[in-house]
Amino acid sequence: MRAILRGLSARSGEGVSEVLARLSEQDLGTEAQRTPEPCNLPVLAHLPHCIGEVMLLDPALAAAIAAVDGDLKWMQSPTYSDRILGEGFSANYGWAEIIGPNGFFAGDDMLLGLLMLGPDRHYPDHYHPAPELYWPLTSESFWSRDGKPFVVKAPGETVWHPSMALHATITNATPLLAVWCWTRDTATPARLK
Ligand SMILES: [Fe+2]
Repeated sequence: MRAILRGLSARSGEGVSEVLARLSEQDLGTEAQRTPEPCNLPVLAHLPHCIGEVMLLDPALAAAIAAVDGDLKWMQSPTYSDRILGEGFSANYGWAEIIGPNGFFAGDDMLLGLLMLGPDRHYPDHYHPAPELYWPLTSESFWSRDGKPFVVKAPGETVWHPSMALHATITNATPLLAVWCWTRDTATPARLK
């Protein structure tokens, strides 16, 4: 969390201040820390490559992510399947909470964690009440909001999705590792368009 806080505090993209404000309201003290029930997913095969890329962007954050490898509960949305999202999607997608019911800190109607998407994937349009920040840490990824054309984001840029905004993500030849955050209204899961 220290590495994430430091990295986000150095950024000024849309929504970053809302994330930092909500983080300041969370109990992230040692007393509040719990141990997630670890669960690994096939997408983690891409984690070593991603950590190598994060080393170039933010070595302290790369080290911190490597340090919790094996301790996180990686999950997938129960309504997602290869039938809906394309063959191999399930093996190339997953997210884990650092703050949230399954994370190191319970959080107060806030989720923050890591998301991974394998190479050559299209996570199609979806939406949710929670406003969302993505902070992609790896090489070029492509993001669409409100059905508009995809725009490229370099490592370390941020992406903001207001409440209920449609959004989608594409990867090319390299996998994506991103910090991800829902700032409020976390009870309602994402729905595909
Ligand atoms: Fe989202």
